[in-house]
Amino acid sequence: MSAAQLTARRTGPLRGVVRAPGDKSISHRALILGALATGVTEIEGLLEGDDVRRTAAAMAAFGAGVERLGPSEQGGGRWRIEGRGGFAEPADVVDCGNAGTGVRLIMGAAAGFAVSATFTGDQSLRGRPMNRVLKPLGQMGATWICREGGRLPLTLRGGGLKHVAYTLPEPSAQVKSAVLLAGLHADGGAEVIEPEATRDHTERMLKGFGAEIEVIETGAGARRIVLPGGQRLRGTRIRVPGDPSSAAFPLVAALITPGSEVTVRGMLLNPSRIGLLDTLGEMGADLSVTNVRDEGGETVADITARHSELEGVETPPERAPSMIDEYPILAVAAAFARGKTTMRGIGEMRVKESDRIALMAAGLAACGIGVEEEPEAMTVVGAERGNHPVAGGATVVTHGDHRIAMSHLVLGLASEAPVRVDEPGMIATSFPGFVDLMRGLGADIGEEAPATA
Ligand code: S3P
Repeated sequence: MSAAQLTARRTGPLRGVVRAPGDKSISHRALILGALATGVTEIEGLLEGDDVRRTAAAMAAFGAGVERLGPSEQGGGRWRIEGRGGFAEPADVVDCGNAGTGVRLIMGAAAGFAVSATFTGDQSLRGRPMNRVLKPLGQMGATWICREGGRLPLTLRGGGLKHVAYTLPEPSAQVKSAVLLAGLHADGGAEVIEPEATRDHTERMLKGFGAEIEVIETGAGARRIVLPGGQRLRGTRIRVPGDPSSAAFPLVAALITPGSEVTVRGMLLNPSRIGLLDTLGEMGADLSVTNVRDEGGETVADITARHSELEGVETPPERAPSMIDEYPILAVAAAFARGKTTMRGIGEMRVKESDRIALMAAGLAACGIGVEEEPEAMTVVGAERGNHPVAGGATVVTHGDHRIAMSHLVLGLASEAPVRVDEPGMIATSFPGFVDLMRGLGADIGEEAPATA
């Protein structure tokens, strides 16, 4: 991690056409399913951020052949995974770094086999709740020993699993996926009931690997997912679409920076991931969606954002799963909107890489923006329309959270005074080329040594 800090300064219009990096959720899953399968999986456009690299290393530790073939034409990498149809016991501790998705999905996959594996991660990941995954895996028959409160490091012992029908207490695609991956090797499989729909990449990809899986819509966004047990996955080819959670940064930067027009090509348009586009549309954002196409079972499109006069809105709780990682950057858009924006039902933000409600509230307040924080909601008080109404001029504490860092850098591009973030090295967990991509659009983001006391 670099010791340097990054500072974003008010910039002229942002212009250009870029590609978002590969989707993080899909990249993790491609590696894990490739390792669980029998035969070769080739992945095009894998995100090569730190989180996904950790998952690649973990899959090698569980016995899969993992090879980087070279760079991918669409950005990211071309990778070849040779799955052995099962996991072997890792010889050492599996360190998932900063990646909640990585560790939770891998624990689910590993639980299906009679192996013991010890998992750890960085300081942020060691503070995050693993009970949400351990509970259903325990009902299936996995055992573990862990730190207080279900924290990492923990040692999981799998194998001999039995069927579970598990209703998700919180809307979490990670928990759903962990249960489904464990269910592949459980006697009788597994069933997950989700009262609110969450991202469905695991279900789609399992089908792509030849698994039998039934998704039943049970009304009001709820679903029952039924996976028979004893299934064998077959290696396949995967093309990773652009990550909407990363595309959100250049798109919102264009919306708040006068004179801007930015196009992000090849962005994933899966309905379970695009709550931010709906919300920005309601705020009056000038967004156009073109070149909609199917790529390997997912819909992708090119999205163009032009500078817009935004209006505050209220986002309903039921939209939260489809934009849970985008609230930090929505809060930045809201700071430049007229009137208040209230985001409801966002309690899950508190257990991400950081307590994102608390950190966004603190960062925005430090930049002169009114914020009201509640346990499960946040209100951002936008300025009246005017020329660059947001003060900026702060050094923002990110607690090593990549999305908190990128959000505040975007804010700094349109605020009166520069905005600096600490620990920008963490941006590489999800968006390794962020600074270069933003500079290519015209953003003034500079690197400097941290001030000494
Ligand atoms: C993810 C699910 C979400 C999201 C995370 C990626 C996934 O987490 O915040 O960045 O790939 O399944 P939860 O499952 O905790 O909601």
